[in-house]
Amino acid sequence: MKGNAANGAKLFLQCKACHTLTPGKNMVGPSLAKVIGRTAGSVPGYNYSAANKKSGIVWTEAKLFEYLAGPKKTVPGTKMAFAGFPDPQKRADVIAYIKANGGA
Ligand code: HEM
Repeated sequence: MKGNAANGAKLFLQCKACHTLTPGKNMVGPSLAKVIGRTAGSVPGYNYSAANKKSGIVWTEAKLFEYLAGPKKTVPGTKMAFAGFPDPQKRADVIAYIKANGGA
């Protein structure tokens, strides 16, 4: 499914409550700079849950697409308090935005 980065920018405002795309800038959640291709739980200086750390996930676009439908389904026990986007188009859009703005 093709994502629309401009629509994704609006959706990413919800992520911005807890995340930046700035390298090294962690907030409630870890920085999402270069998240695509990264191993889960690997941002230096960020205090992850055990569930996230032990998930063994590599954040490919496909895995992010799955995760953002319902983070607690993909990573039971995660401390990410975000319900996700049931709409696949929204997930594709937010991933397109992340990819074009420092997430890849
Ligand atoms: C973790 C993406 C919204 C809080 C993560 C991770 C990703 C992600 C990919 C895993 C990072 C890693 O393993 O290094 C997103 C996206 C969002 C979003 C794309 C919007 C669509 C939020 C919101 C909050 C939040 C709104 C806060 C209410 C967290 C926390 C973690 C996390 C606390 C660490 C999870 C843990 O250690 O269990 N997020 N997130 N996220 N996110 Fe989000």
